[in-house]
Amino acid sequence: MSQSLSDEIKKEVEKRRTFAIISHPDAGKTTLTEKLLLFGGAIRLAGSVKARKASRHATSDWMEIEKQRGISVTSSVMQFDYLGHRVNILDTPGHQDFSEDTFRTLTAADSAVMLIDVAKGVEAQTVKLFQVCRKRGIPIFTFINKLDREGQSPFDLMEEIERVLGIRSVPMNWPIGMGRELCGVYDRMKNQVELFKGDDHSTIAVRPVSDYNDPVIREMAGDYLHDQLIQDLELLDVAGDPFDFEKVRAGELTPVFFGSAVNNFGVQTFLENFLQLAPTPTSRISTTGMIEPTDEKFSGYVFKIQANMNPAHRDRIAFLRICSGRFDRGMSVRHVRAGKEIKLSQPQQFLAQDRDIVESAFPGDIIGLFDPGIFRIGDSLSQGSDIVFDELPTFSPELFAKVTVKNALKHKQYQKGIDQLTEEGTIQVFHTTGGFDEMILGVVGQLQFEVMQYRMRAEYGVEIQLHRMTFQFARWIVDDHIDPSKYRINSTLVKDKKGNYVALFENEYAMRTAIDKNPTSKFLEMAP
Ligand code: G4P
Repeated sequence: MSQSLSDEIKKEVEKRRTFAIISHPDAGKTTLTEKLLLFGGAIRLAGSVKARKASRHATSDWMEIEKQRGISVTSSVMQFDYLGHRVNILDTPGHQDFSEDTFRTLTAADSAVMLIDVAKGVEAQTVKLFQVCRKRGIPIFTFINKLDREGQSPFDLMEEIERVLGIRSVPMNWPIGMGRELCGVYDRMKNQVELFKGDDHSTIAVRPVSDYNDPVIREMAGDYLHDQLIQDLELLDVAGDPFDFEKVRAGELTPVFFGSAVNNFGVQTFLENFLQLAPTPTSRISTTGMIEPTDEKFSGYVFKIQANMNPAHRDRIAFLRICSGRFDRGMSVRHVRAGKEIKLSQPQQFLAQDRDIVESAFPGDIIGLFDPGIFRIGDSLSQGSDIVFDELPTFSPELFAKVTVKNALKHKQYQKGIDQLTEEGTIQVFHTTGGFDEMILGVVGQLQFEVMQYRMRAEYGVEIQLHRMTFQFARWIVDDHIDPSKYRINSTLVKDKKGNYVALFENEYAMRTAIDKNPTSKFLEMAP
């Protein structure tokens, strides 16, 4: 029995690839996701993910956000099968949906796909998301999109990736022409050419070639583009980094693919290469040592909690990343923090279209647990022993506000709401130091403020007003002797909920000055 269980888990783990797509808004994430889902047969109609996105951003009215929250529940994790693999794509919302959740979601991924617009290069949100992935040391694959448009030269993009993100890259394929001249990509690993042709660019053919000097390419692309290709690839062969699987796995080298998501060009080869190179669910650090995905005992942790779209029900959905063992519907597991056994009876798995009740799931999978208010972000669930996974990091907020309660009599409910929302990770709370204790809220994205304001009203009956502050950066300070007088100009010193000192700065200059003036202090982007 046990032997077959561990064989089954091993087999299922081998099949799984769980990743997140990281990009700046408009780079084409929705389009790429949709193409991937089409390959996997998870959706039948092109445009369905897109239509959902359109309805999500149609209005910023809160009720709409609530509705689309429901929608984003279903699209938070998308699962499909392709060539014997089970693929889980974690959604990392952009635009006004950007929040600390986005960062936390990345902790549930085993690898990331970084999507870059060929014309715009590495953009701000990509940098932020990249840094979170980099810290975790997960492999990062790059897809350079919109090759059908004029953009920067591939060499310039590689240089930019290295300069801005500090990671070396290795092109897996190389464009033959670009924009209107685009006629295909040369696959450096398989020595084949993928052709991009037809008036609507929809016809795609694959031709094996001996190498990039093959006259077949000249016939197809013409002298100018072939000469250019030979010149580029000779340079790459000599000066570029060789493909190094170990470096890719360690997150030190990013394989780069060129393509055009909207034209479905280069997407399939990207997917197939990615599935081969990307890691299976990885082991996780816990208080009882490393937890291997193939361990027979089930374990997992909550990385995101989402409020129900229906304000009449206060229940939430807790997103759990399975780390080991086999999950079965109705199984009893230990809720480690609460110190009790709970039954997981109505778990949901998320596909692009519908929520499905899941019967069984394996490491790498994400399940949604019905949460009547018992879970917190970072909670561990396990079978048997009291495994506690490494605490989820608290990310550095960039927007800050003070709060006033419109009706002073509601103070008790207000405090309850603040406690709950802090626990859920909707907002971070800081307290001013030095005399008068005032509360300052910190968030990563504006949406978090909107969610808080709405939920305070809907769930706690408290009307609040937020007063935005001018701070832009927060750094946790580690030092035995902190001198508050050094944090007065364009900055302030506050404490987080655990009593750690945090300095808030209005601008980068103020932050740098403080760092220079306090050589004995360590300034951390995340809570220690
Ligand atoms: P996002 O989720 O990253 O925000 O991006 P999304 O997929 O919505 O794509 C943003 C825009 O870029 C869309 O155009 C989309 O069609 C376009 N796009 C995506 N991939 C490619 C590509 O390979 N080449 C070109 N030329 N465009 C691409 P839109 O005008 O905003 O929407 P739509 O009216 O085209 O749907």
